[in-house]
Order: sequence, then C-alpha cells, then structure tokens
Amino acid sequence: MSFYEKKWWKEAIGYEIYLKSFKDSNNDGIGDLNGIREKLDYLKDLGVTLLWICPFYKSPMDDNGYDVSDYFTVDPAFGTLDDMKNLIKEAHQKGLKVIIDFVLNQTSDEHQWFIESRKSKNNPYRDYYIWADGRVVDGKLIEPTNWASFFGGSCWEYDKQTEQFYMKIFSKKMPDLNWANKEVRLAMQETARFWLDLGIDGFRADAVAHIGRRKRLSDSTMKSTEKYKPDWRMFSNLPVLFDYLKEFKENVFSKYDIMTVGEVGGGATPSEAIRYAGVKEGSLSMVFNFDHCWSNNVWQLTDPHQEVKVDLINLKKVFDKWQRGQYEKAWAPIYWLNHDQPRLMSHYGNPKKPYLSGSMLGSALYFMWGTPFIYQGEEIGMTNYPFKTIADFNDISVKNLYQIEVVQNKRSQTEFINKISFTSRDNARTIMNWDDSKYAGFSNVEPWFKITPDYREVNVKKALESEKSILKHYRKIFRLRKDKNYLPTLVYGTYKQILKQNPHVYAYLREADKTILTVVNFFDFETLVYLRGYRVVKILLSNYDDSSTVLTKLKLRSYEAVTYLVEKR
Ligand code: NOJ
Repeated sequence: MSFYEKKWWKEAIGYEIYLKSFKDSNNDGIGDLNGIREKLDYLKDLGVTLLWICPFYKSPMDDNGYDVSDYFTVDPAFGTLDDMKNLIKEAHQKGLKVIIDFVLNQTSDEHQWFIESRKSKNNPYRDYYIWADGRVVDGKLIEPTNWASFFGGSCWEYDKQTEQFYMKIFSKKMPDLNWANKEVRLAMQETARFWLDLGIDGFRADAVAHIGRRKRLSDSTMKSTEKYKPDWRMFSNLPVLFDYLKEFKENVFSKYDIMTVGEVGGGATPSEAIRYAGVKEGSLSMVFNFDHCWSNNVWQLTDPHQEVKVDLINLKKVFDKWQRGQYEKAWAPIYWLNHDQPRLMSHYGNPKKPYLSGSMLGSALYFMWGTPFIYQGEEIGMTNYPFKTIADFNDISVKNLYQIEVVQNKRSQTEFINKISFTSRDNARTIMNWDDSKYAGFSNVEPWFKITPDYREVNVKKALESEKSILKHYRKIFRLRKDKNYLPTLVYGTYKQILKQNPHVYAYLREADKTILTVVNFFDFETLVYLRGYRVVKILLSNYDDSSTVLTKLKLRSYEAVTYLVEKR
C-alpha cells in the first residue's frame, strides 16, 4: 500500500471511550454499551467518525477490564453481546466505525487458561504463560530477574502451588501470555476473527509492544536505586514480536477492510514505529507512542499549588521527530491523551482560561498530519481531580505504589498523594460530565467513581449552549479536515515546522495542492512573530474574532490560535 493511497481510517476522526465512565444507561452507576448508543448523535455532531471502545469483555476488573477472563463474553456490568451487536449496527447506520480494545499481552488470572496453567507444570495450558524458577541468593528465594513491573514491584509473582514464578508486567492478577507458544497465537487470532465477523472495524492493540520476550532471562544492569529496575527495554519492542504480528496480519487482519492501532510504550523510536506500521513492512495501520505526552514538569511537582510549566521547545522537537520521521513511511495517529494520562487541560492548558487554552491545544494538534483521536471529555476541557487521600483513587497501579512507597518504605502519605495527583491515570477516568445535574448527567444513581468538582461549569450541555466553547472549536477543526477543499492537504499533505527556536509559539505548514499555516501561542501573554514568504488568502479558523493577517509582524494574544490558507509570495 502506498502512503498516499486513500483509506477510510486515514481520513477518520477517532474518539476514545472509557466505557466505565462514559454513560450509564441502566442506572447502576457504571457506564455501559447502551450508554454509548444514547450518545451516538452527540459524537456524530462533534464530527467523530470512528469510535475506540475500551475493554468490555468479562473481567474481575482489577484493571477496569484490561484483565480479561473471557474474550467472547461481554461483562454483565457493560451489557450483553446483543447490546454490542446493536451498538455496531446503529453506529454503522450513522456512519461511525467501531474499533475495540484487544488485550493481547495478558489475561486475568481468572481466565480459564490461567486457572489451568497454574495447576501443575505439565498441565496442557502451562506454556500459555511465562513461568520460571526463582534464584536462591543468600539462602533466600528471589525472582528470576530484577525487572520492575509497570504497576510497581517486581514483574514476577511467586505461585506456591508449583513453586515457580509467573511473569506479570502489570498487576499480579494479569499474568502475561506466552506468545512464543503457537497455540496462544492461534487462540488470539481466533478471538480477533470472532469480533471481526461480528462487524467491528478493527482493533486498538493493547500493550502490543510487550508480546515478544527474551528467551534467556538475565538481570538488567540499569543503574538505579530501585530494587526492581524500571528497564522497559527488557520486554518492549523486541524483534520477535514483529514476526508474531506478521503472522497475525497474514492470517487475520489482511482478510478484512479494517484498521489496527497498536499501543507502543517502552520508549519506541520512529524507526520502530515504522517496523510496526510501515507502509511496506508494517502489520498494523498505525501506532501510539507517548513521547509528546510529558513535555512539562509534572513529574517534579510536589505540591498541588505549584505551577505546571510546559516545555514548548521540547514538545516541538518531539512533534518534529515523529511527524517528519514517519511521513511517507508509516501512517500515524495524533492525540493528546488517553485513559492513562492526566487531563490535557491541567497538563498543557490553563483551567482559568479553558476556552482559549483548550481551543489553542486543539488547533495545535489536529491540523497536523495523522488520524486524530480525541479522548472523552477532552472536547469540553475536563480537568484533573483534586485527590486528597488514597481512598480517592481506583487505579491498581496507584494502590500498589502506595503499598510500596508509603506502607513499606514509610514515605509521607501527603507527599505521595500530592505528587501522584499530577500524573495519575485516575484523572482521566472520572465520570464524563454531560450536564450540571446531581450526577453530571452520567447516571441517576451515585457513579462508581469521582465527578470533578467543576462539573457544573465544565460539561457538554454548557459547551453546546455557549457560543464559544472548546467543543464548538473542535467541531470546526474536524469540519475543515473533512472539507473536500482542504482534505488532501490536511490529511495527506506534508508537515513542516517553522519558528523552531521560538519558545512560545508553535507554527507549522501543511502542504499539498494548498498551503495551510497554523500558528498558536502556547502561553497566557502576548507575543510577536515575524513570518516571511507567505501571503494570507484567508483565515480558516481562529479562536479570536479579529485575528491579524499581517504575517510579517503577527501579534498573537493569550493562547491565540490561527489557521490560515496562505500562498507563497
Ligand atoms: C495499556 C492500557 O492503556 C492500560 O490502561 C492498561 O492498564 C495496560 N495496557 C495493561 O493492559
């Protein structure tokens, strides 16, 4: 396939739904599939054409569904298989495609395969998971390696029944599958076929970067003070996984007109992204990486009153590296966040100036090259939750870290909460704010998780009623991306950054049959830029009513974001 070949998923506008928090249709406090159905018109009106639905499979919910105990059943909390069929049908009728999260790296420990696997060393399912002997050091039994888990502690868990360790790079209730075993690969292919035959339009391949493992186990030599080394290279982006994906593509993906987007953590590079999603060699349509998600000081902050500072120069470098690194070689998604990140408004925006900063962030990103993915609530500028105690959190990774850092290592509880509040995944998982009623229009009963205290101001109803809102700005962006006059440029055109050294302004050109320039001021003060060589034909979109067209001396006010149709002089 050539890079320029037209595909529906290159022109799509994606929207991620964290099901549990999106909309509750049966008033049990938990979001569900029928809740999504209620909101299809809302999503369509926003300009969305593709839904990514987070896991809805049967699960004990240790990690809110990323711990699957049965891939062929919908968890009763989320609905039934018929609800899923109806959702797919209705979404398709409205012109919306549906992709689903496919949890590849691990199952729940309550999955039948693992229940069998842990029974004995010669159980037929033993080799479905990764088992290894521990080591005896100074008379003590320790883990097979010193590798850390993403969710705190070791990535190995001891199982006394067979006196071996199983690998789990997430929680101990999420044992890692052994993809070196052909039976596992075939079983996962069968799972994929089941959902594709039901009519879905593709997958978001969860944690796909980790399915290839080292044959020989050895300690990481990473220099760090931690007992278990956060050396993600030990189980990320290893060459063998590309063979598994190739086989998957040959046997399954290539038989359907679908898209696949892989989640690629563990520090993948653009050249690795090309191995995953390259137009020639790739097995997936595109991959998410997280390089641009942390270009600020949030990991250093220790007090909720400290200011979040954006490092725009670094952010621009990261954008440049990925946009130019993949262009013409692989397709890519563009996104600010997902259900694993803090809220965009609290991260790169300014909750005191939500419309201006939120619309600026929309323009900064979604005129770039790639398939947009919005995360629920981003379009209304939802903010982080003011967590106060450990009981306010739901995320298993926070709870694990709390055990290690506060309970075992006696770190101050306040310090721990203050710090983790800036980065916690739970920020993204609060209830979607639909309106200003008691439970934010999400449900008629108390929801399973927190509602942000600002929900009476920050909600969909208000955004729809206001003349100026982030939501309305997002709609305009997506309308332009779909407009046949601009689509060839905005979807397929080249990307070129200008004003690279400017620490306050992000500016870039998209070019095909037309030239489109986007210039945004990332900060809450006025600034001037001087742009030569282009003449403004017209303003395509601005978050101010009276933006200047004098590029040679362009004044940009607080968070001003303007997209121009230009011509070369
Ligand atoms: C990545 C998912 O986005 C995250 O939410 C989950 O905890 C891990 N993969 C494990 O499946």
